Amino acid sequence: MKKKIITITGAAGNIAYSLIFRLLSGQIFPINTKIQLNLLDIPESSKILKGVKYEIEDCAFESLDSIVTTDSMEAAFGDSDYILLVGAKPRIKGMQRSDLLLDNANIFKNQGIAINHHCRDSAKIIVVGNPANTNALIVSHHTPKIPSENITSLMRLDQNRAKSIFASKINVPVTSVSRLVVWGNHSATQFPDISNVRVDGLDDLEKKYDNVWIEKNFIPRVQNRGAEIIDYRGKSSAASAASAVYDHLNSIVNGSDDWESMGVLSANKYNISSEIFYSFPLSVNTDNYKIIEDLDLSEASLSYIKTTEKELIHERDIIKDLL
Ligand code: NAD
Ligand code: LMR
Repeated sequence: MKKKIITITGAAGNIAYSLIFRLLSGQIFPINTKIQLNLLDIPESSKILKGVKYEIEDCAFESLDSIVTTDSMEAAFGDSDYILLVGAKPRIKGMQRSDLLLDNANIFKNQGIAINHHCRDSAKIIVVGNPANTNALIVSHHTPKIPSENITSLMRLDQNRAKSIFASKINVPVTSVSRLVVWGNHSATQFPDISNVRVDGLDDLEKKYDNVWIEKNFIPRVQNRGAEIIDYRGKSSAASAASAVYDHLNSIVNGSDDWESMGVLSANKYNISSEIFYSFPLSVNTDNYKIIEDLDLSEASLSYIKTTEKELIHERDIIKDLL
């Protein structure tokens, strides 16, 4: 029997309430792998966390090895294989995600320091709490022991949204659409890019969509989908976010045949600042990824990718005292 230790922060919160059950009933790891869940939340949430633990036990999951519930970062992070940094304040109606920056930044600084102290350097970290890319930058700064390639921020929700909206417009199943990626920030400046899209593996889209719809409907709809959900639900996306974390982790563990969007340290690719976490098109293999290089970018695409870079540089400037 193999065992994987997965840490989830914000484990008493909304996303975790979907994510935990998806992970334990899912198929990311081989069938004989058992999962130890380390569930971290703040002391004020300990009662809720206990209820979550009881519900997990009540599912009698075959995949479950054990559950640790804790408010201690040392207990939560030590020996972890995968760390899902979800715990942070969500935005409410009328806010931008970057409005959370100052509230949430210290959580990621302190967790980065603790991870660096207690974790193996092979730990993989996925940053979900908003604003996810800049929080990932903070974590990466405070985890010199962990290779920066091990830290990614969640852009898969944006990619899934983009694929789903696009597929329904051209009237094909979502599984037919590949190479639809999202560049830049998890924010209203992100650039969902259909330039390389394939449908059923073929690059023959000209007749199937119109550029006016892409520019005036598709791109703004994807950029603002998080706010649209808040508008309808009264709180931010949780089940779809959890599903995206599952997909992201699955790609990291098992690789992917498609291009994937994740926030990564830019390494100066496409002339994007190397000092920010930025979502690029990636090819992802088991346990590593590569930024897809040499894509042709139109004038319009270049303008989008620089606009979203500018916003990330601005976010970094706001939290520069924590770096
Ligand atoms: P939530 O308020 O329901 O839950 C957050 C949980 O985090 C709470 O239980 C809270 O007690 C806990 N928490 C707060 N500080 C903590 C700390 N220092 N350590 C551990 N736990 C702590 O929020 P949610 O809906 O689960 O969303 C969590 C975060 O994820 C938010 O910042 C939200 O904006 C973000 N989010 C990101 C994406 C994405 O695509 N990147 C998608 C959806 C939501
Ligand atoms: C989302 O995209 O749904 C999340 O980032 C939550 C939000 O604030 O929009």
